[in-house]
Amino acid sequence: MRRSRSARLTLGLETSCDETSAALVERDRVLSNCTASSLREHARYGGVVPEIASRAHLTALLPTLDLALRRAKRRLSDVDEIAVTAGPGLLGSLLVGVSAAKALALALRVPLVGVDHVLAHAYSARLCDPAPAFPYLALVVSGGHTTIIRMDSPARVSVLGRTLDDASGEAFDKVAKILGLGYPGGPAIDRLSRGQAPDDRMFSRPYLSEGSLDFSFSGLKTAVYYKVQDALKTSGRLTPKTKRAMAAGFQEAVCDVLVKKALRACARERLSRLAVGGGVSANTRLRAKLDEAARRSDIRLYWPSMAYCQDNAAMIAAYGAALRRAGRRDTLELGAYSDFSRSPLLSGARS
Ligand code: KG4
Ligand code: ZN
Repeated sequence: MRRSRSARLTLGLETSCDETSAALVERDRVLSNCTASSLREHARYGGVVPEIASRAHLTALLPTLDLALRRAKRRLSDVDEIAVTAGPGLLGSLLVGVSAAKALALALRVPLVGVDHVLAHAYSARLCDPAPAFPYLALVVSGGHTTIIRMDSPARVSVLGRTLDDASGEAFDKVAKILGLGYPGGPAIDRLSRGQAPDDRMFSRPYLSEGSLDFSFSGLKTAVYYKVQDALKTSGRLTPKTKRAMAAGFQEAVCDVLVKKALRACARERLSRLAVGGGVSANTRLRAKLDEAARRSDIRLYWPSMAYCQDNAAMIAAYGAALRRAGRRDTLELGAYSDFSRSPLLSGARS
């Protein structure tokens, strides 16, 4: 049976970090979204080891693709177009997905489109029901990125602010390491801080220059480090109570900065739709604080479900399909890039 042009079946592949994901999307509907993670293999090293991640993608990619096809009740020959994460991320990991996508596009004779991972996180709110109408703002908070993006359409995007050093998730992971909480640190700090009344004076907030929409979290991480050293010098050990207080104090400082800058961006751009994406958006305190602040400012928030907040191929397929509708297509020359500033759509960016 032939399907109409609007019912194109898009296969999405994501291999930018430690998650191997494959998804099938048709008419903006996610038919399947399957993810295998090598997280456990990295845990004992306290962070993602690129070599281990690349090898894990090689092993997991085809079984994950098979599973996605089975769950969607589709065959490979039904696929009309392929979207793949081209960057930013770990080059070795990205190349596994990009090479597979090229081989499939060639064998199936279907179009290929390279998708930017950070912009796909910003687009993932479009999988919400209801979805934010364009234009909207997106706060992307993940292990590798902390960015505020204005989305005028799938292909017209501008970066309003970004991290100058550590991303918010990276700061959570490093602070958790300093506090001996294991990896990944975000969920550990979130859990430990629950029920704690944070001491707002414990850490100062890095707001940067007046009106800036950029972020900087590495000073905060260093402040935690020195506080831990002080505590060790004074009492010889870090008590569970001190650990909890530091975790909660750090988390509060990060959340205050994220909330303030996201709302500042909404006011400046005169936009009242704010989408949040990326792994850190799972943070309980961030959700509570942003919900509260948005309510006070009449801003409508869009939180994609957790499956679409973390790294996933559904957002890659959905965003790739939207870019294809906007006329984008890549050739088999498509390369991978590690740095967000090399994203092909950012040439018209404001910063
Ligand atoms: O978007 P993501 O799954 O992968 C990247 O593209 O980086 O984000 C992973 C990051 C990690 O740094 C992890 O510690 C953080 O998201 N994270 C959290 C929470 N859950 C995951 N950070 C704070 N609170 C959480 N509950
Ligand atoms: Zn991500």
